Amino acid sequence: MKNTTYEVKKSEALLKKAKEVIPGGIFGHYKYAIRDTGPKFFSRAEGAYFWDIDDNKYIDLMCAYGPSILGYKNPEVEEAANSQDSEGNTVSLASPVMVDLASNLVEMVETADWALFGKNGGDSTSLAVMVAREATGKEKIVKIQDGYHGVAPWMQGKDHPGIIASDDAKVITIEWNDLESFEKVLAEQSDEIACFISSPYDHPVSRDNTLPEEGYWQGISKLCKQNNVILIIDDVRAGFRINLSGSNVAYGFTPDLICFGKAIANGHPLSALVGTNEMKDAAEKVYFTGTQFFSASPMAAAIATLKELKKLDAANKMTDFGQRLNESLVKVAKESGYELVASGVPAMPYYRLNNVDVKTHFRWIDECVRRGVYMLGYHNHFVSTCHTEEDIEAISNIAKQAFETL
Ligand SMILES: Cc1ncc(COP(=O)(O)O)c(C=O)c1O
Repeated sequence: MKNTTYEVKKSEALLKKAKEVIPGGIFGHYKYAIRDTGPKFFSRAEGAYFWDIDDNKYIDLMCAYGPSILGYKNPEVEEAANSQDSEGNTVSLASPVMVDLASNLVEMVETADWALFGKNGGDSTSLAVMVAREATGKEKIVKIQDGYHGVAPWMQGKDHPGIIASDDAKVITIEWNDLESFEKVLAEQSDEIACFISSPYDHPVSRDNTLPEEGYWQGISKLCKQNNVILIIDDVRAGFRINLSGSNVAYGFTPDLICFGKAIANGHPLSALVGTNEMKDAAEKVYFTGTQFFSASPMAAAIATLKELKKLDAANKMTDFGQRLNESLVKVAKESGYELVASGVPAMPYYRLNNVDVKTHFRWIDECVRRGVYMLGYHNHFVSTCHTEEDIEAISNIAKQAFETL
């Protein structure tokens, strides 16, 4: 494999233009990914790959931050979305596909007795908290330190621009894997706490990801039940990459509500909140909606996505692939004189070079990107069912070349 690096001149020029008409040029979480030497805009995407506007090809280890679980432009999913689109998408009535999709989720997801829909993951986490408050008549939210649930003011924390102290005044933050802290909070104010919200394992940015300790979720679940606290699993990021029945199934516990988003429609805009029968009345009462919430094409895409995920035994397939990718990268790092730490679940690996400064770690990532593997230095990665053994080989070769430049 040739050891050449990509030029991104068109990306650079377009970013300059973008800055004239868009605050920051690129905004939100995409803005943080922008690096001097890396691509800024894509031109097309297919399967496990995308091309930037300079026509460089990348093996994509970010999968659009999760949505591309079957790979870009999956034929079955696109056919389902296009076919529904040709009949009608956003119309003055709901479409039967909404009922089909809810039925599919109820059948597939262990905890689901019903489903409601939105567009982004943040819709489902916001709605979940409202349902919990309605169900319990209580106000406070317990969340994990650095746990990300979207951008609603209560989720961001008061130090963020545009957020005021009262926005997160009802939020209590505890450390991950810390049952004792949760017990303590409950002992002091259980009559005020409506819900505990957390991802199934800890996947913060800029540090190693951590799995639940033995008995953690069983302990949290028990405490929630004893104190009339609604247990919300935010499966927006990990959903369908650990267990197709809900990530909680892998860790042996049952929440009251599960939030899905990202991968549910393989890149078509859709999110879902599912819950148990006990939560159904509260879910019916809460008013949470949006003009685009009833668009039928993304729902048709989701039905096709769930079908494909089941057919491919996708969560296990991606776990196997992630394991092999991690093993290969750790080996290549070792051969190059470095220690690579892969944390989190295999289908969403977080990488960190051990015993080097952060700058060196980012340089290694940049050198991988410049040779055609799209990665981020501060975020977990995502694999899809489309990634192949050849991709592992190509990624490993590029990783080796990148180590050689350090
Ligand atoms: C765990 C988790 N929850 C919620 C969200 C918010 O989802 P969205 O950006 O689709 O609103 C994200 C997004 O990254 C997430 O990772």
